[in-house]
Amino acid sequence: MERIRVGTIGSGGIVQAIHIPQLLSHGKVDFAWCADIDEATAAGAARKAGAPRWGTDYRQLLRDHPVDAVTIGTPHVSHHDAVMAALDAGVHVCCEKPLAMSLAEAEAMAAEARRLGVVTFVPFSYWFVPAARLLKDLIDEGALGRLTHVNGYYGQGNAFGDGPMRWRFQKAIAGSGALGDLGSHLISLTHLWGGRIARLTAQMKTFVHDRQVEGTSERAPVDVDDDVQLLGELENGALVNLSASRTYAGRANFQRVEVSGFDGGAVYDNSERSRLEVCLGQAWTARNQWAMMQALPRHHLTQMHVFADAILAGKAPVEVLPNFEVGLEVQRVMDAVERSARTGAWVEL
Ligand SMILES: NC(=O)c1ccc[n+]([C@@H]2O[C@H](COP(=O)([O-])OP(=O)(O)OC[C@H]3O[C@@H](n4cnc5c(N)ncnc54)[C@H](O)[C@@H]3O)[C@@H](O)[C@H]2O)c1
Repeated sequence: MERIRVGTIGSGGIVQAIHIPQLLSHGKVDFAWCADIDEATAAGAARKAGAPRWGTDYRQLLRDHPVDAVTIGTPHVSHHDAVMAALDAGVHVCCEKPLAMSLAEAEAMAAEARRLGVVTFVPFSYWFVPAARLLKDLIDEGALGRLTHVNGYYGQGNAFGDGPMRWRFQKAIAGSGALGDLGSHLISLTHLWGGRIARLTAQMKTFVHDRQVEGTSERAPVDVDDDVQLLGELENGALVNLSASRTYAGRANFQRVEVSGFDGGAVYDNSERSRLEVCLGQAWTARNQWAMMQALPRHHLTQMHVFADAILAGKAPVEVLPNFEVGLEVQRVMDAVERSARTGAWVEL
């Protein structure tokens, strides 16, 4: 394949901000169409993407105008059906996080993609922060030694105030709140650096219980979590402690994860995209000294280029990361978090 024909499904925020510009900058992608339930959004995306067609019915576009791949950026409730329709058409699929509304949905999506052998991709964007990739290298090289802790925090402040009701605050559309929106990123980073979570206990909390329905004087209930906390253990024996929140004052989009091991530690902070704070080896750990390490050129990857390059190279689906298998694993942890938060019990994964 020389060039890739792409369609977009759910062509609003993230698709226009990230998917379309990054795929256009790849140079070997042509957009065939943009689909969105809102026709003006579909038309706007098509203009941006240089796509000759747009519409409100992605099934019809998939049928009438074949593509090699689709990229999906609908709210979470529509991920499953859009992915299954794309797989039914036999195309490669990028679907935004979290992969699904439930573990059962994610299992069905991953199983069907596995059966077909298409390239799948879930944009856990922070896997592509150069400092995160540098940390992955250091862990794989054994520079931190046997891991003892993954201690992460992801804070936003957008649940504060009396902002209007949005789909992200509604369980029927989003599935969960901070858990799926922010926690899925932290869980995916934990997976990147430390592997699978083996057991956990969790807590979820809502601070702001209702919001105004836009254009009316009515208020509707918020039935998702504003905050989620997870305490657990990785399969490799390291302890994990994650907190994702929409109620952190003064935080727009802040992540900080400290990973520690017998031979050293590292602090990933997403406001320092290309530099990682490290304390590595006996000489430094004995003195509690930290320094900034610079990411290398190979750590600078463009998320959507990874998806496009994999399709062009005909890579085996499992070689392309983060794929639906990672999305499924994150969903498995999210499911355990919700069960634990409901019952108060520890959950084995
Ligand atoms: N990777 C990241 O860092 C990141 C960042 C932001 C959002 N996201 C994810 O991207 C997805 C979309 O979020 P967003 O912020 O772009 O939302 P958005 O509300 O801005 O856009 C969603 C679009 O989907 C359209 N839509 C809704 N239902 C549809 C359907 N059935 N068929 C076709 N179109 C439909 C809407 O009209 C809207 O234009 C979510 O999964 C979200 O979690 C990921």
